[in-house]
Amino acid sequence: MMSLATPYDERRGRLQTYFDATAVKAWAQLTSDAPVSKIRETVRQGRDQMRNTILSWLPTTLSHAAVLDAGCGTGALSLDAARRGARVLGVDIAANLVALARDRTPADLGPGTVEFRSGDMLSPELGVFQHVVAMDSLIHYTRPQIVAVVAALAERTSGSIIFTFAPQTPFLMAFWGVGLLFPRSDRAPAIEPVSEGRLRAALAAEPSLFRWSVGRTHRVASGFYTSQAMELVRR
Ligand SMILES: C[S@@+](CC[C@H](N)C(=O)[O-])C[C@H]1O[C@@H](n2cnc3c(N)ncnc32)[C@H](O)[C@@H]1O
Repeated sequence: MMSLATPYDERRGRLQTYFDATAVKAWAQLTSDAPVSKIRETVRQGRDQMRNTILSWLPTTLSHAAVLDAGCGTGALSLDAARRGARVLGVDIAANLVALARDRTPADLGPGTVEFRSGDMLSPELGVFQHVVAMDSLIHYTRPQIVAVVAALAERTSGSIIFTFAPQTPFLMAFWGVGLLFPRSDRAPAIEPVSEGRLRAALAAEPSLFRWSVGRTHRVASGFYTSQAMELVRR
C-alpha cells in the first residue's frame, strides 16, 4: 500500500524512534551533571552556550509571557525560561524525554509556570505564544521542512521565533558524508547541514512569512558541537 505520510511525518517518526528509545539514556546523561566523555563534554559546553544565547535573546521582562519550547527534550531551556517568569509549554514527540523533563521540574517553580506535553510541535492544540524557541530540534530536518515548520509556528506567534540550524561547515559536511557511507539503523537520523544564505533566501521567499524578518544570528562551535541560532521577528 502506498504511504500517505509526508516527508515531514516520516522524518518526525524516525526522530521519535531515536529520541524516545535509542537515545533516551544518552540524552538523560548529556543533559545532566553526570560525567561524560571528553567529546560529549565539548557538546555539553556548546549546548550550554547555545541555551544561554537563546535565553539572552528573549525579552528581559518575560513575566507571564507565553513561550513554546518546541522539541523541549529533557526541558532545560523550558525551566530556565520559567524561572524568569514566563509561562512555558514544552512539547516533544519523545514521551520518555518529556517524562524526564517533568521529573526535573523543581517544586518551587509553582503551578502553571511550566507544562510539559508529548506530541508534535506543530499541533494547533498547543495554542498561541509570544515567543517560540526550538533549540536543535530542527537540525534533522531539510531546509524546505525547516521553512515550513517555522511558517506554521509563525501563525501562532506574536513576538519572535528563535531556532537553530546546523550550518554548512567543512566539519559538519565531512560527518554528513560519513553518515551517508555507513548507514546504521540505530544511528541518529542524519543532521541536515543548511547554508545560511540559502536559508535566509528561502525564509524571505516564503509568502506566509512576509511580516517576519531575520534578526540576530549566532554560531556556537565547541568541539563536536556546531549549531547556529537564528531569530525571526515580526516586522
Ligand atoms: C537534539 S534534541 C534537543 C532537545 C532540546 N531542545 C535541547 O536542546 O536539549 C531534538 C529534540 O527535538 C524533538 N523533536 C523533533 N521533531 C519534533 C517535532 N516535530 N515535534 C516535537 N518534538 C520534536 C526530538 O524528539 C528531540 O527531543
